[in-house]
Amino acid sequence: MEIGVIGTGYVGLVTAVCLAKLGHRVVGVDQDEGKVARLRRGVSPIYEPGLEELLREQQAAGRIGFSTEIPEAVQAATVLFICVGTPPREDGSADLSQVEEVTRVIAENMDGYRLLVEKSTVPVRTSGWIERTVRLFNRRKVEFDVASNPEFLREGTAIEDFLHPDRIVIGVSSERAARLLREIYAGFSCPLIETDVNTAEIIKHASNSFLAMKISFINMVADLCERTGADILTVAEAMGLDRRIGRAFLNAGLGYGGACFPKDVLAFIHIAEEHGLDFRLLRAVDEINRRRRDLFLAKVRQALWHVQGKTLALLGLAFKPHTDDIRGSPGLEIAQRLRAEGARLRLYDPQAMEKAQALLPPGPQVVYTASALEAACGAHALLIATDWPEFQALSLSELKERMTTPVMVDGRNLFDPRLVREAGFEYHPVGRPAVQWPTW
Ligand code: UGA
Repeated sequence: MEIGVIGTGYVGLVTAVCLAKLGHRVVGVDQDEGKVARLRRGVSPIYEPGLEELLREQQAAGRIGFSTEIPEAVQAATVLFICVGTPPREDGSADLSQVEEVTRVIAENMDGYRLLVEKSTVPVRTSGWIERTVRLFNRRKVEFDVASNPEFLREGTAIEDFLHPDRIVIGVSSERAARLLREIYAGFSCPLIETDVNTAEIIKHASNSFLAMKISFINMVADLCERTGADILTVAEAMGLDRRIGRAFLNAGLGYGGACFPKDVLAFIHIAEEHGLDFRLLRAVDEINRRRRDLFLAKVRQALWHVQGKTLALLGLAFKPHTDDIRGSPGLEIAQRLRAEGARLRLYDPQAMEKAQALLPPGPQVVYTASALEAACGAHALLIATDWPEFQALSLSELKERMTTPVMVDGRNLFDPRLVREAGFEYHPVGRPAVQWPTW
């Protein structure tokens, strides 16, 4: 099928490339000329495992092209996926102005039936606004449908998630739209939920909010464990073995960051409010999550006595492993706040350093290093903000050798406290007994 994908951010680009992989012919559109030029040369503007290889493969097969012009995609394709940003406004609601603008241009250029598919995460009832916009701006009164097909891709594993989904959700209001979307996803054997558009829109916000709730829940339990000498890892393992609960998203630590959970939780609270409901549960989820960073900083201060003038090695600037995305990154915020308190920082991340430097420029107080071991050189403490597997594989003795004082504050529970104790570290994990050194 001929498909247009409007917006080539994380969601749009992965969607475009994977739809091509399924055998469809895809035009990806983005207003950023530089980005489109890079994409045409087969260069991915983001780091996402497997994405650039797949992009080049599909370009070589002639199934994917890129343009800065929406009308080109409208002309070439029957189905148009809307994948533009829906950033949060000051009050937490989603800013849908990009969705409106894209819809207007699509509408003005439609000369026959088109299916507009919301892929961006949008509040329930957005499809009604899209429909109204098409009617207002399409003078030829052509037939069209609006559908919702939410994505459940995690950054870092987005290609795998697209090609091997747990489920596919399509929200439609006509048999024609349903048929087109069923055809697009014909190759998948996972459950396909076919429903109305409002339900599909809610499924996306409810799924993200539920996962965020699991994280905040386990973080509160971790705080209780810390105060009572219990161990959050064992608690999470035991809880997770109950199939009704499941082990996923029960990792306590610095909480959730990124461009999705923080924004989607707020947007879901807001949309509930608009319909007369106070989603207090989610307010608490958000509040608990915001406090994680303060608690981590309090631990750093406690471990160091004074932060000012100390050298701190911080590992992990991306908001999670296997990505270079620093949006909403706990590690980056912590680094910024520690610098403001007068610490000297040595920073390392396997992928996100280039992006981080734009927000936290290198200088006398801020040094970006070529490896985690190099970051540890001369440090009074090692701080772990992201659970990159390569951090977990670090040799504790090699780290200790390079540090001025062997203190570690681990915001992601990467290490076994027993091994850290044996290696001679003072260790402050989350929700687990600390290893104090020296013991008074
Ligand atoms: C999330 C959802 O998992 C996807 O299903 C969804 O499609 C996507 O948002 C989206 O709406 O676009 P993503 O933000 O890429 O994906 O990353 P996650 O793996 O969900 O992690 C989110 C944050 O939660 C990260 O900061 C991670 O470190 C944190 N997290 C995750 C925890 O603190 N504990 C956990 O147990 C799991």
